[in-house]
Amino acid sequence: MKTIFAMWIGLVIVGFTNSVLADDSANNYAQVSSDGRAAVATVNPYATQIAIDVIARGGNAIDAAIAAAFTLGVVDGHNSGIGGGCFVLVRLADGRIFAIDGREMAPAAASRDMFVVDGKADPELSRTGALAIGIPGSVAAFDKLQKLGGKLTFREVIFPAADLAEKGFVISPALAERISATADNLKKFPASAAIYLDKDNNPRSAFSSLQQKDLAATYRAIAKQGPDYFYRGDFAKKTGRWMAANGGLVTHKDFANYQVKMRKPIVSEFAGYTLYGFPPPSSGGVHVAQILNILEQFDLDNLAPAERYHLIAEAMKFAFADRAHWLGDSDFTKVPLSIADKRYAQTIAKKISLDKTTPNITAGNPDIGIQHVMNKHTTHIAAADMDGNWVAITSTVNTSFGSKVVIPGTGVVLNNQMDDFSAQVGAANAFGLVGSDANAIAPRKRPLSSMSPTLVFKNGEPVMALGAAGGPTIISQVVQTLLYSLNDSMPVEKAMAQARIHQQWNPNLLFVEAAMPADIQQALQKKGHELKIWPSMGASQAIQLRDGKLIPVAEPRVILQNQRKN
Ligand code: DON
Repeated sequence: MKTIFAMWIGLVIVGFTNSVLADDSANNYAQVSSDGRAAVATVNPYATQIAIDVIARGGNAIDAAIAAAFTLGVVDGHNSGIGGGCFVLVRLADGRIFAIDGREMAPAAASRDMFVVDGKADPELSRTGALAIGIPGSVAAFDKLQKLGGKLTFREVIFPAADLAEKGFVISPALAERISATADNLKKFPASAAIYLDKDNNPRSAFSSLQQKDLAATYRAIAKQGPDYFYRGDFAKKTGRWMAANGGLVTHKDFANYQVKMRKPIVSEFAGYTLYGFPPPSSGGVHVAQILNILEQFDLDNLAPAERYHLIAEAMKFAFADRAHWLGDSDFTKVPLSIADKRYAQTIAKKISLDKTTPNITAGNPDIGIQHVMNKHTTHIAAADMDGNWVAITSTVNTSFGSKVVIPGTGVVLNNQMDDFSAQVGAANAFGLVGSDANAIAPRKRPLSSMSPTLVFKNGEPVMALGAAGGPTIISQVVQTLLYSLNDSMPVEKAMAQARIHQQWNPNLLFVEAAMPADIQQALQKKGHELKIWPSMGASQAIQLRDGKLIPVAEPRVILQNQRKN
């Protein structure tokens, strides 16, 4: 248990620290276009700047978001990139809303017990190297998004990132730290070492320039030939050959068979707003709605602070117990849609006492006689424009530098999203999450995610786009931002600055940010919570429409960490 902690506390706290420009003032992470008609927030000033430049060249929020995503793959490759997957929630200017599922798929040769050795799941296999890799979905999802509502071409939104990869960018102390922490694993893969380590195999140092010529060439080939280059062309073939020689299961055919799925968003109501969340294979939309539904059964405005935090923690615990039991890829397993139903929340609320923690919580039975089958190290980008395009993209290669594998000649860091499956009942993944059959490995199945891109509407009009990075804390961060901004009417930047908590049922611990006042911490302990203090938790990005203006907000904790390190 101790090692899991150490590992995922590391992931959540420093997993998304990123490379920054010399001038990393908060204004560079979240920017409004010069005409005030569009806004972008990301965890990286290079990515935000390129997105804003794309708008200046006639692009809309959709073009900007895609340009930011490709740029993050250059400057923030330990968190996201085209070797990973993503979920996109988009509201187009014409009012249509789409949930684009670009999550990785397991290869056709994957099998339920592929990570079990001598009767025990081996985390090394699911996290590092060839077997950890799922078929990446981001390129196909961004292409779909571009076609749905972009004003520019794929080529025009990819080229700026390709140019930056070619020219190079300055490695920040924060990125240097991530490289150094992962160096031993990066060394195992020569093409990864060639990017992130110097010629003596030492981690590249802060303030040196990192050029990625292979990545630039891959981006340009995708820009010119479209996603076919990635899924049917050279990229797929090179990857297939490398996998065959290195014990992997992924074939070039798996790439050709990759499919973006259009999903039906989870729609819920909270505090007079309508929320659109991401459905399975994300657990995000379901549990954000569930937790808020539970909270609103109580008199939220008149609870003492400690009582309120206690209630949030209890609601999270019930939700994560359901997650571990019920949630998985809805193409493979029946996920009860009623988890997000208000009537189910009422049954849970009855079990919650405001005085004491509820002992021995297990998954509930959400089948309450309503239609119940849902058929058919990470980054969040928020972009919006005054034409009415709103984009929330959460994208990831999973843990730092994903599988650590870069296929020679491509420059692309490949994900280790296979670790998000439940390798074995009871075996924890890198975030300490356990799962059931619902999230067991199967050929072409998608691993369960916590990513929670969310769009918020008032009277049918979009007013907020938000999301976060940080494994399961993504769900908790999004819940808390929504609670404070929608129920308590805080400006979103203030909502994001509130001390955060996280409870994921297993382990049964209440993670609390150090900024939480000591008297509240004590009151929570008295109610039966075992507290774990984290210095800081999470990386959210949001855009809010306020008084007719777009207000982009990047995670204050990440900006602060980067400024301290630079
Ligand atoms: O999809 C998921 O839930 C995870 N793979 C996200 C990983 C993540 O947020 C890493 N960040 N610290």
